[in-house]
Amino acid sequence: MAIRPQYHFTPKKNWINDPNGLCFHNGRYHLYYQYNPFGVCWGCMHWGHASSTNLLDWEDHPIALAYDNEFDKDGCFSGSAIEKDGLLHIMYTGVKYHNVKLNEHNIPVQADPNGFTPAQIHAVSKDGGLTFEKTLPPAIPVDKHAHPVHVRDPKVWKTKEGFYRLVLGNTENQRQGSLLFYRSDDLISWTYEGKWTSPDFGWGWECPDFFELDGYDVLIFSPMGAGPEECSNLSLYLIGHMDWETFDFRWEKKGFVDECFDIYAPQSFLHENRRIMIGWLRMLTPFPNDDFCGMMTLARELSVREGFLCSYPVAELEQKRVSLYQKKETTHSITTKSACYDLETEFSGDKPFSCQLSGAKNETLKVDYNEKTSVLTIDRSGVLNGYQGMVGANSIRIPLPRKQSHQLRIVMDHSVAEFFVDKGLRTCSCIINPSQELATVKVEFTAPTPCTVWGLTP
Ligand code: FRU
Repeated sequence: MAIRPQYHFTPKKNWINDPNGLCFHNGRYHLYYQYNPFGVCWGCMHWGHASSTNLLDWEDHPIALAYDNEFDKDGCFSGSAIEKDGLLHIMYTGVKYHNVKLNEHNIPVQADPNGFTPAQIHAVSKDGGLTFEKTLPPAIPVDKHAHPVHVRDPKVWKTKEGFYRLVLGNTENQRQGSLLFYRSDDLISWTYEGKWTSPDFGWGWECPDFFELDGYDVLIFSPMGAGPEECSNLSLYLIGHMDWETFDFRWEKKGFVDECFDIYAPQSFLHENRRIMIGWLRMLTPFPNDDFCGMMTLARELSVREGFLCSYPVAELEQKRVSLYQKKETTHSITTKSACYDLETEFSGDKPFSCQLSGAKNETLKVDYNEKTSVLTIDRSGVLNGYQGMVGANSIRIPLPRKQSHQLRIVMDHSVAEFFVDKGLRTCSCIINPSQELATVKVEFTAPTPCTVWGLTP
């Protein structure tokens, strides 16, 4: 059994995927999530619910949304939340399977991956987000603009002009992804506004998130069928400018939301001028002998810097820090009490650098910087112990822009580590499964360099 992460949300038991309905409501942050209460595999989708006052210590709540009508009879898929007049509104995708089969865990799933009907449903909570009343029939029935099957995951927001807008992930004949935009004044009745499509990123798009940040329009989405076979599911961002008259999104820059292929379906929300994102850390199977499957990333604050979408742990994490180590050396050897720590250092762009996070003999999560290629490599293959990460993603190469020096922050949380280069210009999350805590850190430079480590308190 792996040691559970402390600050990365995990369910007590069973399967989770996408974060849903992220928001701040009634004095608390809310994290809803795709949840199967019946097993450690995908299926029977409900919205699980946790809340927090600091985005780090999550309190579990009963299931918030379950399937119970002809439009969502086989599952409540992903969606988003928004507060209006003191009440919490959500939009989600309900699904109805055409034919049902039992999978190897005895969980009912759709017999044909293309055999279901989605519906975009509105619901409202009058008890602070614990339960929801659905508005039926669905707010947006399957219409002529949408693909009959692969249209889902409404992300809703309030525009500067004061009306509400939502975006859906869609496909054009299962050949290329598209976004559908709808508008509403009351969150209940919606009208179609426009579409944006591109042949560049796979055959269909899931969990789109569209927002304005630092003077740009940013799209985060999870394309299906983009990229090489072994990592065909990943989350991308595009930065540019949207013409809201023509729905022509002129993007200038693209990138991975995170360099590791564990992250999928990230969602963001705006609270007090911070754009905060949480992503699903995909686990295909549980850790050996464990009974939960899937984690969430740390809550990260987003910004656009140097043309990149940056993400960095929310400042609240710094309040958990307890000073442990601070020195300027060529080689640092640090032993922490437990593998829950926060490390900051910097390395020169033209010198080699390495960092080893170790536990039991030969179990090391390795970080290496090659000054000739300017590539940072994070290799988790020695700390998996039978746990299968996403195929092909156990040694991750991160090309860094040429710079005199780079900052590096590592947040280690027992069975997951998150790496942030240059305050989030590049990030990499890694699920790991060491047999003993990775509580020893060795950092090697070619010249004396400062390194600081804080323990993270429970
Ligand atoms: C993404 C996704 C969504 C869907 C949900 C179902 O991981 O496939 O598109 O709403 O998961 O659980």
